[in-house]
Amino acid sequence: MYPLIRNRRLRSSEAIRSLVRETIISPSDFLVPLFVVEGKAIKEEIPSMPNYYRLSLDHLTKEVKELWKMGLRSVLLFVKVPDNLKDNSGSEALNENGLMQLAIKTVKNACPEMLVMTDVALDPYSSYGHDGIVADGQILNDDSVEVLAEMSVSHAKAGADFVAPSDMMDGRILSIREALEDEGYLNTGIMAYSAKYASAFYGPFRDALDSAPVAIKNVPKDKKTYQMDFANRFEAIRETQMDIEEGADIVMVKPGLCYLDIVREIRNEVDVPVAVYQVSGEYAMVKAAAEKGWLDHDAVMIEQLTAIKRAGANIIASYFAKDAVKLLG
Ligand code: PBG
Repeated sequence: MYPLIRNRRLRSSEAIRSLVRETIISPSDFLVPLFVVEGKAIKEEIPSMPNYYRLSLDHLTKEVKELWKMGLRSVLLFVKVPDNLKDNSGSEALNENGLMQLAIKTVKNACPEMLVMTDVALDPYSSYGHDGIVADGQILNDDSVEVLAEMSVSHAKAGADFVAPSDMMDGRILSIREALEDEGYLNTGIMAYSAKYASAFYGPFRDALDSAPVAIKNVPKDKKTYQMDFANRFEAIRETQMDIEEGADIVMVKPGLCYLDIVREIRNEVDVPVAVYQVSGEYAMVKAAAEKGWLDHDAVMIEQLTAIKRAGANIIASYFAKDAVKLLG
């Protein structure tokens, strides 16, 4: 008795494996998150994100030029806002000369063709670390959405190609789309964080931006009243379909690895590009295990990124983008 089919033939050498490989990651898959900080000549490593940095605008210029040379063509900007500029309604977010607005211009000056996406949410600007305005023990939905729409227009005005609302307020995509149209930014895209789960994997990111929710009386110190419950699946599809109906050009699932079932379902369900965010905690876990010598950093990184793409991601936002592209050669 011999096996009727020998699957191992297709695995017998690297040549045949590469010939039949179904999923190949390349520089054009990646969206590179960048953290921007006030000041000059600052490139400070984020303690819980080894080899990842907060950059002042001069270093941002250098960084995007380097990314461009490596074949990376899209960045996603985040800013770290000093405490004295934070308030409950995130008013600094609307400052035309604020750090985000300057960062957008800096990237476009350094590299005019680099695609610039911006994070739209109140948390880095909020004295409470929430993605919306806090009042009477609540995170207000509609008032927050108004600020998010104004913020999006401000980013578009500064030159952003896409705004990426990461707040999970209801109805924000429609309000942002209408505000952009009203102001004449017809070509500014929206990448909606559609299925964004309330996840413990965001910890290192909140260290990076000093944006963790603070303790306030009667307000939960987490984001579970707006970000999704990680136990839910149908809700992810509903959120995503609603964002598309409201005008999202790209939808996103976040975090990555633990949510690849959701990525696959959404990829099968919708016909717009699907992005996945491999978040800070996922990055930190690999770095920490590799530092201890417990995992092979590069092998695990490529395996994870390939799995994300295999699950259906068209775009991967990842702190590993540079490492991966270097490795791919
Ligand atoms: C802000 C925002 C967060 C992330 C992206 N945008 C944090 C949060 O929602 O608390 C997390 C990204 C990461 O962990 O890498 N709304």
